[in-house]
Amino acid sequence: MTNKINNSKGSLHGYWSSRISFILAVAGSAVGLGNIWKFPYIAGVNGGGAFVLVYILCVFLIGLPILVSEILIGRMGRRNPASSMEAMALQSSSSKKWAFVGLMGILSGVLILSYYSVIAGWSLAYIFESFSGTFVNANSTIVEESFFSLSSSWKITMFWHSLFMIITAYVVSKGVAEGLEKAVRLLMPLLILLLLILLVYSALEGEFIAGLSFMFAPRFHDLTADGILVALGHAFFTLSVGMGAIMAYGAYLPDNMSIGRISISVVLADTFIALISGLVIFPIVFANGLDPEAGPGLVFMSLPMAFGNLPGGIGLGVIFFTLLSFAAWTSAISLMEPAVAWAVEKFKIQRVTASFFICLIIWVFGLGTVFSFSLLSDFLLLGRNIFDNLDYLTSNILLPLGGLMIVIFASWVVNIDSLSIQLDKSRGIFFRLWLFLSRYIAPIGVMIIFFYSVNIFST
Ligand code: PFF
Repeated sequence: MTNKINNSKGSLHGYWSSRISFILAVAGSAVGLGNIWKFPYIAGVNGGGAFVLVYILCVFLIGLPILVSEILIGRMGRRNPASSMEAMALQSSSSKKWAFVGLMGILSGVLILSYYSVIAGWSLAYIFESFSGTFVNANSTIVEESFFSLSSSWKITMFWHSLFMIITAYVVSKGVAEGLEKAVRLLMPLLILLLLILLVYSALEGEFIAGLSFMFAPRFHDLTADGILVALGHAFFTLSVGMGAIMAYGAYLPDNMSIGRISISVVLADTFIALISGLVIFPIVFANGLDPEAGPGLVFMSLPMAFGNLPGGIGLGVIFFTLLSFAAWTSAISLMEPAVAWAVEKFKIQRVTASFFICLIIWVFGLGTVFSFSLLSDFLLLGRNIFDNLDYLTSNILLPLGGLMIVIFASWVVNIDSLSIQLDKSRGIFFRLWLFLSRYIAPIGVMIIFFYSVNIFST
């Protein structure tokens, strides 16, 4: 980002220096643990096929129009998400209370990052675990034991969680700067390349057909109402929408860049990476007698088996977990940015101070997740541990609710002339499609899914 002098229409926090840096930053936010760690395990727990189909529909029919809406509001408001929404609401002679959506998003970001950082910490730990040679020729017992000994040791996971939060807060305190762009430009293609190499391994050595059919053969009887809600929630989580992260990035986007094409590229890349991850992981799972319903440990148990059996596996493992940690880090930055931008504007404090305090709050919340796998693993609320509850509350309730309000705000409240100036002056097919999806399909879709899953609390 380059810094420009702030004026009434400008961004307080600087600008992206080019179209490509914005795309990379949004892609960096979208592609993360959600694609490689979370998507495969929730697909596994929810029976695969039909879940994957619903997830893809939610991504394109609901997530994509909301992504566009967020970038739009951010660019038009040019402030932190809460203030951007407030400013735009006032401009459209609507209630200031819309700022509440921005505030809710800031809270969601803080809560998500609290557990995201713990999982990212596991990934950091696995760089060293791979390097130490633990996984050479490993069988399923060894990988399962390694994972449990890491996740159940609160001291070790707390250490890695702390380290991850410090690295994230450091970058955010500097301003979401050019370093991010350079790093994403190099490391994202490397991550894709490595996933493709692993895909070849899975195709040759794994139960590839079983994996393929698990992921793509739609078995609707395996899909529950709750599973549909999880698929919807994940569409929000994976695209980073529903909490203002992308809105905060949109605030730094210069006026002349096309929002439509940027959004479509990001959504395609994000979906591609998630599907490839699933196609890498499930064939390995089936070939080695691992449990597809293993939950949050799935990636950490399946991939080390592949590395352990490949020539140069130690190096591949180290590189893979480094790239995964890196992908988590670029997402974590975007989870923290709205809260920090808000605190800077609200309390008129320096970025460094804001970053420090917010990092501290997130770190403390994160202890809940650290203990979910150790000291407090038996502490269940609504049948879930602290980590599952946090994930459920944020991904399946707060993000869809935030997204619902954002898309209604963008397509119904904001003046349509200003929208078309931002998106497409000639109001062509893309504009009309976006408006239709945003006004009808996305809100109705979210409401129907919410309605059908209201019985979730009775489980
Ligand atoms: N999209 C990120 C992932 O898939 O890992 C997670 C995430 C980042 C969620 C930013 C929400 C967000 F605002």
